[in-house]
Amino acid sequence: MKKYLVIGNPIDHSLSPKLQNYWLKENNIDASYDKIKLGIHEIKNLIQDIKEQKIAGCNVTVPFKKTIIPFLDKLSPEAEQTQSVNTITFDNGDLVGHNTDIVGFDTAIKKLNFSIKGKKVLILGAGGVVPSIIFALKNMHVQEITISNRTREKAENLRVLFDNLKILKWGTLTDFHVVINATSLGLNNETINLDFSSLGKDKLFYDVIYNPRETNFLKIGKQLGHKTENGKTMFVYQALEAFKLWHRIVPNVNTNTFKLLDND
Ligand code: ATR
Repeated sequence: MKKYLVIGNPIDHSLSPKLQNYWLKENNIDASYDKIKLGIHEIKNLIQDIKEQKIAGCNVTVPFKKTIIPFLDKLSPEAEQTQSVNTITFDNGDLVGHNTDIVGFDTAIKKLNFSIKGKKVLILGAGGVVPSIIFALKNMHVQEITISNRTREKAENLRVLFDNLKILKWGTLTDFHVVINATSLGLNNETINLDFSSLGKDKLFYDVIYNPRETNFLKIGKQLGHKTENGKTMFVYQALEAFKLWHRIVPNVNTNTFKLLDND
């Protein structure tokens, strides 16, 4: 039986095993998918296990999406540009790092009834998932991307990877058509201390968080008359893309797929 894994720290919250095991069963694939919490010093052993085919493939989450890169033989162009890997395959003796978060975000936005081309986008946060969001937004030809992060230096560092990023001081707000919460604020019921009432109406409030389903950021967005969306569709489609890479099968996505993730 082939073994797949998601590695991260913390990892308890991860719903990847639930989704991947559901699809494995649905497609009669003799494999299992588990989650493990790793320390950085344990990555070397994991890499060895993949090379020895004890593990067939791996997802990577916070905080290893960048730190895993030196251990890999090749990167996909998207992983290279974002310096972010969330999926590892073993192809012809090479460990290859892929980034499926980009497709996940891109699909989530395309499924919304919201035209993002030519729009001004604000991203709150500068953590692990932000390079993937910027990459996807650039392909969507948005007008302008602004980053606002509590630690300004981390926002500045993103300029090494991407041209034309604007930076806005944390705690301030100007006019935007789309606001994306990519901070961890909301995971534990926190509120983002910004006055969003100046934005008018009919904008898009997008939260990368999907558990809880509706963060305070999305609640406020809804109250103010904006379109809102959580990160669940992104999560499902990054998982789908990883499944395709490992098993060469496109798994089904339907209401049951989403219900499966609602139970938590
Ligand atoms: P990492 O920063 O290790 O990549 P992450 O979960 O991907 O982890 O990112 C967490 C994001 O939430 C960061 O942008 C972080 O801001 P800092 O870079 O200043 O740490 C942001 N964040 C977390 N707690 C926050 C808080 N209390 N106020 C504002 N931003 C916060």
